[in-house]
Amino acid sequence: MDTIILGIESSCDDTSAAVIKNGILLSNVISSQAVHEAYGGVVPELASRAHQQNIVPVVHEALKRANITKEELSAVAFTRGPGLMGSLLVGVSFAKGFARSLGIPMIDVNHLNGHVLAHFIKESDDDNDKPRFPFLCLLVSGGNSQIILVKAYNDMEVLGQTIDDAAGEAIDKCSKVMGLGYPGGPIIDKLARQGNPKAYTFSKPHIPGYNYSFSGLKTSFLYSLRDWIQEDPDFIEHHKNDLAASLENTIVEILMDKLRKVAKDLNIKEVAVAGGVSANNGLRNAFHEHAKKYGWKVFIPKFSYTTDNAAMIAITGYYKFLDKDFCSIDKPAYSRVTV
Ligand code: KG4
Repeated sequence: MDTIILGIESSCDDTSAAVIKNGILLSNVISSQAVHEAYGGVVPELASRAHQQNIVPVVHEALKRANITKEELSAVAFTRGPGLMGSLLVGVSFAKGFARSLGIPMIDVNHLNGHVLAHFIKESDDDNDKPRFPFLCLLVSGGNSQIILVKAYNDMEVLGQTIDDAAGEAIDKCSKVMGLGYPGGPIIDKLARQGNPKAYTFSKPHIPGYNYSFSGLKTSFLYSLRDWIQEDPDFIEHHKNDLAASLENTIVEILMDKLRKVAKDLNIKEVAVAGGVSANNGLRNAFHEHAKKYGWKVFIPKFSYTTDNAAMIAITGYYKFLDKDFCSIDKPAYSRVTV
């Protein structure tokens, strides 16, 4: 009998639905919300309203593209948290109602687990180059920066994480200060390709153990910029490529220094990266360089699976389905938690 999972993601500002049949992705529909651009960040109330408008057409489209009827579904997997509460409630409520009306199980998925398991999304039968357990995953997004030891599909341990800002958050905030727009990540990435990564030095944190910190870098960037602008009011315009390249380089170095330490201490050579910031070219290059230099086998997701998507929720749901790990209707959405 076929196992067909509908995945639903609504934790932030992307409404997404995906269908996975026997572990192979059939469709992955994402509706991103442009409404937040004018505000320089996600406005939670606007995000929930947009999810409310998008959820039915997005699910409909995912089923249509997969050529699957709702009666064929084995279960509905949904992001239960962490994320914005109002946004989560839309997907959670829809998923529960949909599963209940079809008389099929519901499967709750931790969004961060989903990002990690994005590495197991298969687009075809011969798409088999997947990480082997145990492996390390650097999860870097707008809200998280974590080093995770992945022991099995359902067994993950956070070894280190940010004690303040996330890497993506730091990039977005610095981009905002430079007046470059939102989200800053892709803009900084593009500018950095034409800049000198060694042009400027910003302070790096000295945090013991495997944890990260990015708020000091953000402050150092801000104060440096203030001094430079006092001397040249058009400083940003004249030097934005070098500023972007130096900022990106510092963030990548901070991320890789700790990751290298963990990999060495645990003697693990299979290393993956996940989350929105893994779309970054500087970070991707650093992974390839580490593969060459330290003999790592690295796993870098396709661009479309780095940012929020329901394919990663559906694949996580698929493995939970195989374990018969279902969720009861009374489980509420949650806004904060780690893997
Ligand atoms: O995983 P994600 O889509 O979800 C949230 O955590 O909300 O990550 C979004 C983050 C944002 O901070 C965005 O600026 C960053 O990922 N991002 C990037 C790039 N693309 C997205 N950061 C650096 N370079 C990129 N190319």
